[in-house]
Amino acid sequence: MTTPPIVCDALGHEYAGGVLALKPTTLTIQPGEVLGVVGQNGSGKTTLVKHFNGLLRPTSGRLLINGEDARPRPVHDLARHVGYVFQNPNHQLFATTVEAELRFGPTNLGLTPETVAERVQQATSFFGIEKLLTSHPYRLAFPLRKLVAMASVYAMGPDVFVLDEPTTGQDHAGSNMVRKLIERLREQGKTVVIVSHDMALIAEVADRVLALWAAEVIASGSPRAIFAEDRVMQRTKLYPPQITQFARRWAPASTRPLPLTVAEAAAAVLGEER
Ligand SMILES: Nc1ncnc2c1ncn2[C@@H]1O[C@H](COP(=O)(O)OP(=O)(O)OP(=O)(O)O)[C@@H](O)[C@H]1O
Ligand SMILES: [Mg+2]
Repeated sequence: MTTPPIVCDALGHEYAGGVLALKPTTLTIQPGEVLGVVGQNGSGKTTLVKHFNGLLRPTSGRLLINGEDARPRPVHDLARHVGYVFQNPNHQLFATTVEAELRFGPTNLGLTPETVAERVQQATSFFGIEKLLTSHPYRLAFPLRKLVAMASVYAMGPDVFVLDEPTTGQDHAGSNMVRKLIERLREQGKTVVIVSHDMALIAEVADRVLALWAAEVIASGSPRAIFAEDRVMQRTKLYPPQITQFARRWAPASTRPLPLTVAEAAAAVLGEER
């Protein structure tokens, strides 16, 4: 059996000052899995995922990356395996041009200049940011800065992608780009972890959803199962995607299970094959 890329073994985190931001959490992320992490503000989502590339270290329990204890491995070593796109791109970007930003990661991995150039080119064309290469990342609007942050991680080609709030502040085109990125990563067999308040995105792309509440994972399951659990929705104060809420009120019982996406709703209403 293939080794899971990420295992949390009773992993917990208490910040200096005594804030217990994550209670001991045991979790195995499978290779190629797209995992959604949802929960209210302050429930511990970012704290959990920041462990995956060593930005935070467990204050209790262990993190295994590809089956090995991550503790002795520095962040730049873990970054080979796990790419982390920050919730706030200002915490990630530091180069003076977009091109330099894209070059930095693959160069640091010790790739040859030819391979670095190739990676930069691939990331540029995938994200359609050719015109931005000479721009200063800080002069870009927030949504574009966030796309550049994603592109710079994409250029490193890690096996695991962690996207913290990838669609926040994005317009329709930006959100579509995020969906395209996740689908591309899935096709490439990468593992993707997405933290998001965007339930429509989670419903569309996630194989499994973790719901956090007050520093604890209170539910884990398919989007269909999690969004159908009233107890989880009430406790986390989250809502299923709007199309699911609409269908719940409007659709006849025969269309159950409730649709999670517009495509599923259309299929149910028009009697098409899903
Ligand atoms: N550096 C820090 N020092 C102390 N406490 C922190 C720190 N970072 C986060 N916290 C606290 O830890 C808890 C969890 O925060 P975290 O950022 O993980 O939540 P989140 O679920 O990602 O929230 P959001 O949806 O707002 O991004 C919160 O109570 C937060 O105030
Ligand atoms: Mg967060």
